[in-house]
Amino acid sequence: MILEDLGIHHKPVMIPEILKMLNVLPGGRFVDATLGESGHAKSILKASDPGGEILGIDADHEAIEVSKNRLTNFSDRTTIVNDNFKNIKRICMKENFIPCHGILFDLGVSSLQLDTEKRGFSFKRHDPLDMRFSYEQKLSAKDIINTFSEKELADIIFDFGEDRKARKIAEIIVNNRPLEYADELADLIKKGIKTSNFKIHPATKTFQAIRIYINEELSSLHKALDQSLDILGEGGRIAVISYHSLEDRIVKNFFKKESKYCICLPNITKCECNHKPKIKIITKKPLIASINELQDNRRSRSAKLRVAERIKNE
Ligand SMILES: C[S@@+](CC[C@H](N)C(=O)[O-])C[C@H]1O[C@@H](n2cnc3c(N)ncnc32)[C@H](O)[C@@H]1O
Repeated sequence: MILEDLGIHHKPVMIPEILKMLNVLPGGRFVDATLGESGHAKSILKASDPGGEILGIDADHEAIEVSKNRLTNFSDRTTIVNDNFKNIKRICMKENFIPCHGILFDLGVSSLQLDTEKRGFSFKRHDPLDMRFSYEQKLSAKDIINTFSEKELADIIFDFGEDRKARKIAEIIVNNRPLEYADELADLIKKGIKTSNFKIHPATKTFQAIRIYINEELSSLHKALDQSLDILGEGGRIAVISYHSLEDRIVKNFFKKESKYCICLPNITKCECNHKPKIKIITKKPLIASINELQDNRRSRSAKLRVAERIKNE
């Protein structure tokens, strides 16, 4: 496999915390909804030996190829599906994986995607603007950057990058089109935007925003979280690792809503809305990586882990 030969390795974050929080035990059945390079999946397979199973899902066909290779020794206990996790319930039904003991979401991009030629996810690389998880998606970063109006671009950068300089960045982009390459866009933003924070590249939030928009990341997460409660067996756990506040807020609010009796008004224990809690929140506050991991893996610095447990429907 070419990518393997390139030596690109994604360092999975918070492995001990995931194994503990998902209660990974021999014979357990787990869905890894963001298989990536299967770092988490491999650890779960080892910890659930003998008899543990993984259903791994990823929208990215390159991640699927790498994982198929990496997990050959576990092929009798692994099912791998190239699809979007917004279809998680349909996938699990098809693969006869309901109920399961745990579901993991490790959101965002992998090192494989950031460091692989031609994907256009990294502002450091001279790669064509692309950023699609799956080539089945029609819209690429190049289309958005070169054809969307200044207002549309500003809205995307503000809504999905939470960048207060969104308007200025959109103006710079529109005045310098057409743009072809990821590093070209990054350099342009760097030249045009004054910043006092020299630790973060001024194009970081623009790249995040465009990637989220193209891959419909937030709406896919909403859909998958909703469906995941129909997949988990009683006592089964859902663990979500997020890397920015937009994702974390969605997970936090979803857990809050699904652990309540009433979604009409706060502080009421029962009312006519007939909403019943489906989960118990395990992590009142999100867990973060250990000091050792924070020093060892840069990506872990922004990781936040939230966990909830499926309870019996009343
Ligand atoms: C941070 S990486 C996961 C890394 C993985 N846990 C590991 O240990 O190698 C995120 C992965 O999720 C995938 N992904 C993101 N959004 C997705 C979606 N809506 N459906 C399916 N896969 C998605 C990406 O393609 C990427 O491979």
